[in-house]
Amino acid sequence: MPATRQVSQWYSPVCATSSTKRGVDVQMSNKTDILVVGGGGREHAIIRALKRSPRLGKIYCAPGNGGISADAQCFPVGATDIEGMTELAKKLAVDCVFVAPDDPLALGMVDALNACGIRAFGPNKDAAIIESSKAFSKDLMKKYGIPTAAYELFTDMQEALRYIAAYEKFPVVVKADGLALGKGVIIAQTREEAEEAVRSMMEDHVFGKSGERIVIEQFLTGPEVSVLAFTDGETVCPMVSSMDHKAVYDGNKGPNTGGMGTISPNPFYTDEIAQQCMEEIFLPTIKAMKAENRPFKGCLYFGLMLTPDGPKVIEYNCRFGDPETQVVLPRLKTDFIDIIDAIIDGKLGELELQWSDDACACVVMASGGYPGSYCKGIEINGLDENGQVEGAYVFHAGTRLEDGKYLTNGGRVLGVTASGATLDEAIDTAYEAVKRITFNGEQHRSDIGRAWKRD
Ligand code: AMP
Ligand code: GLY
Repeated sequence: MPATRQVSQWYSPVCATSSTKRGVDVQMSNKTDILVVGGGGREHAIIRALKRSPRLGKIYCAPGNGGISADAQCFPVGATDIEGMTELAKKLAVDCVFVAPDDPLALGMVDALNACGIRAFGPNKDAAIIESSKAFSKDLMKKYGIPTAAYELFTDMQEALRYIAAYEKFPVVVKADGLALGKGVIIAQTREEAEEAVRSMMEDHVFGKSGERIVIEQFLTGPEVSVLAFTDGETVCPMVSSMDHKAVYDGNKGPNTGGMGTISPNPFYTDEIAQQCMEEIFLPTIKAMKAENRPFKGCLYFGLMLTPDGPKVIEYNCRFGDPETQVVLPRLKTDFIDIIDAIIDGKLGELELQWSDDACACVVMASGGYPGSYCKGIEINGLDENGQVEGAYVFHAGTRLEDGKYLTNGGRVLGVTASGATLDEAIDTAYEAVKRITFNGEQHRSDIGRAWKRD
């Protein structure tokens, strides 16, 4: 059972330079005030990681959520409201805005903030396209020889249907080009399912404009690995690996969700594979983006599949993953604000990142019905008692605070997370903490970290 394997770490040689952290000496007396954009479990984990930095001054979040409001002052500005967010950042006179979700990045929030002279963490619009257009990312990989599934791009439905009619080996994967709340990927088991997927995207427009262009690609097999990487456009520093559990039910059954739980490290991601990914995927991607005049600064998420032919890119995300962040950032030992500054200033190569050897597991507690329709406003019990489980902590994903009570306010409600010396220990502790929290209709997977394969 690989779960008890000791945490292995691998540091990119390009970020393993010797100099001390920039800015620490200079800025020791100057605290950094930060506004975090977003309002889910990922943002809560980011805020908790920022709060470990002695350099942090004031911490704000917009829009935030019930649980986040205990850690940061929240403001009711929507995550995609670029004008509103820029105004808020000016009013608060923050030193930096951390743009966490994909939508505002794709809309150019970082560009807008920079245009007002405000420092911001995250890629600009030109670089965020690596997530917001699958056509772009697939063509980038083809052009620069980065391993990925073979594919064809279509803007014409009849052509796509003709391609499916002639396709020989099913399943096949049909993907909407644009952002689709994580639902734009259909794994079609048969020709009929593939035709239906094409029609739903290009005729019925179930994903709106995101489905006007589609990618049809080869179905790959193998364990999936999420690797988040810090990059300033030149240097890339992969973080410790993680594994998401996308299907809603145990045994990887049921529809895909935003993610029902995560573990870090990923037991399949050996040092050898990490080395191979660095050479064949991570550095080539950073170089490719630079060569395309779209240097990527921020956190680049590599969704990988370890196929029998080697690691291949399933998807890029232009941001921290959710719920990967919840198990990766608790393991970060280097000052997070030093890293943010180094990325914004193009000096990541001067930092040497340190990670804890502890493993981490996150179990998502979701509303009944998720990822379909679900009720909101249900009282959550047991959050206070949870503090009694040593090594566990709760990130709020979809909650609101009303009259001193936490109520459900989203599909994914809580990310109950724990650290431990081994993965088994972290997983056990997380489930121990889950037992103490209840709300009507609550659902969670009981096999996080223990269901290795899709079927
Ligand atoms: P994505 O939204 O691109 O992360 O895709 C969602 C999930 O669909 C991935 O985590 C994989 O499990 C699966 N998937 C996407 N592309 C492929 C592929 N080419 N072959 C097999 N599974 C895939
Ligand atoms: N957990 C997958 C994602 O953040 O897209």
